Amino acid sequence: MTRIRLGVNIDHVATVRNARGASYPDPVRAAELALAAGADGITAHLREDRRHISDADIDALAAITRRRGRPLNLEMAVTPEMEQVALAHRPHAACLVPERREEVTTEGGLDVAKGHNAIAPVIARLMGAGIRVSCFIDADLAQVAAAKSAGSAVVELHTGAYCDAVRERSTETSALFDKLRAAAAEAARLGLEVHAGHGIDYETVKPIAAIPEVAELNIGHFLIGEAIFIGLGPAIQRMRALMDEARATRAA
Ligand code: PXP
Repeated sequence: MTRIRLGVNIDHVATVRNARGASYPDPVRAAELALAAGADGITAHLREDRRHISDADIDALAAITRRRGRPLNLEMAVTPEMEQVALAHRPHAACLVPERREEVTTEGGLDVAKGHNAIAPVIARLMGAGIRVSCFIDADLAQVAAAKSAGSAVVELHTGAYCDAVRERSTETSALFDKLRAAAAEAARLGLEVHAGHGIDYETVKPIAAIPEVAELNIGHFLIGEAIFIGLGPAIQRMRALMDEARATRAA
């Protein structure tokens, strides 16, 4: 089975910085460290309210990832402002996410089925600029089909509900995992690349990484939290090792 990629989301380094209105800790330094520790790419979400990552961070992250020849994945809402930012920087990838001002984090997937006619032209313009577009969706077959018909190259499956269920030892856990597996299989059948992310920690990473169609995981909050205790480099290396173990077990 192919190696699975790890995108490290450094948003919450900026959250800590912004808590004091200071210039540190610097998410760009975190990105450099993450790449040195084995991250395959860097993910950052420029939110409409700029609560963590700023425009200047995106400028700097685009520059360092380009210099290092590593992919930047820009998470963005489907708005004219964010489309302009993406077209100005032309990151390797853009992941379209829903955004609501009052939410604490991206709480659900993008409703591509409902928003198809507004989303499809944005995908076409971004892809026309050479940006690989992904839609962040719930593990739902109708959303997978809608992402395909809207022209997306990739779907990122929202793993938040499954990860919460694992942590809460919920009886829903295996049904939620089956939905992830079915959505991944269907997306691959339609020719979409499959990514997954949200809420992943050391416990949940292995079953998710063992889903054979998943080519990339995007992980942020847990890694930044773990960095407080063991350092960002070791936290990434441990996550990377668990991902590789999951693949090796699966292939055995
Ligand atoms: N993927 C997407 C599309 C996200 O919005 C986020 C959160 O910013 C993540 C992955 C990473 O989630 P977490 O920070 O919970 O690891």
